[in-house]
Amino acid sequence: MKRVLTILLFSVLSLSASYKQGKEIFSKYCSKCHKGYIPADTIKDNFFNKDNKLLNLDAPTENMLAYAIMDGPKRVGDPTDKEMQQAEIEEYLKEYLYHPDPDSSICDNHVMKYYDIKKPFDINLSDEDFANLAQFFMEYKKERLKHTKAVIKVLSRDYDEKKILKDAKESKKAVIIEATSPTCYYCKKMKREVIDSKDIKDILSKNYILVEVNVDRSKLPFNLKKEYKHITPSFFFLSSSGEFIASYPGSWNKSDFKMILNEHKPKEGAK
Ligand code: HEC
Repeated sequence: MKRVLTILLFSVLSLSASYKQGKEIFSKYCSKCHKGYIPADTIKDNFFNKDNKLLNLDAPTENMLAYAIMDGPKRVGDPTDKEMQQAEIEEYLKEYLYHPDPDSSICDNHVMKYYDIKKPFDINLSDEDFANLAQFFMEYKKERLKHTKAVIKVLSRDYDEKKILKDAKESKKAVIIEATSPTCYYCKKMKREVIDSKDIKDILSKNYILVEVNVDRSKLPFNLKKEYKHITPSFFFLSSSGEFIASYPGSWNKSDFKMILNEHKPKEGAK
């Protein structure tokens, strides 16, 4: 009976554990030392070219932890059995938090020397907290991808300009409004061949919020009507505070569009 109860309790705990609750626990207890997401390229540059002077990290960032736990060379648990893996990650976290030991670290050995020495954690977290933390790391990459995919938005009829600018400011991105229409052959061709290609998507997701506007149905936002020459596609570049910067009417090939994107992307310093 006791065993059944334990198993039952275990599955209830692991089923109800969630990324969202894990994220809350992480920001409450862990984020004062472990910083939020920083792109992998910047982290590599920081440690391998800049001797940690760029970011001055004294502990791994949350995405470095998620990477080490889920995808790193010393990753934790069996990825083909999610329930087991969650239990193993919970164990690993408990062990490392209460008995930190750099020798059993799963992080990159070369960068350990930059970090502070981790002290044993002095707050007692519950098993449920650990289950949630495990879910936070397990779902981390998926949740982030969801976020990056949202770079391309389709403007709904009841759009909110303020919301677009708020997103742009928060993510320190510039805004591109694309005038398009379902009957526009070159819009579709450019989307397929240019906008959806990996290198253009990378530049877009780092620097821009691209909003597609179906001009057959919706008005152009941000007072762009006066700039619009009735050509689809047309691309309007705006700053993150909504000022008009430039317009590029017509369909573009990959190398030209890349040049345009690079010309208007927000300056590094502003990031
Ligand atoms: C007082 C600062 C501090 C707090 C608070 C803190 N950590 Fe850490 N943590 C560190 C440092 C510094 C390291 C890197 C050095 C090391 O691993 O010894 C680290 C390393 C880690 C590692 C990597 C271990 C490995 O295998 O290399 C994990 C996982 C981790 N912390 C999880 C957490 C979680 C989860 C919390 C919140 C419940 C937390 N930490 C709270 C400072 C902190």
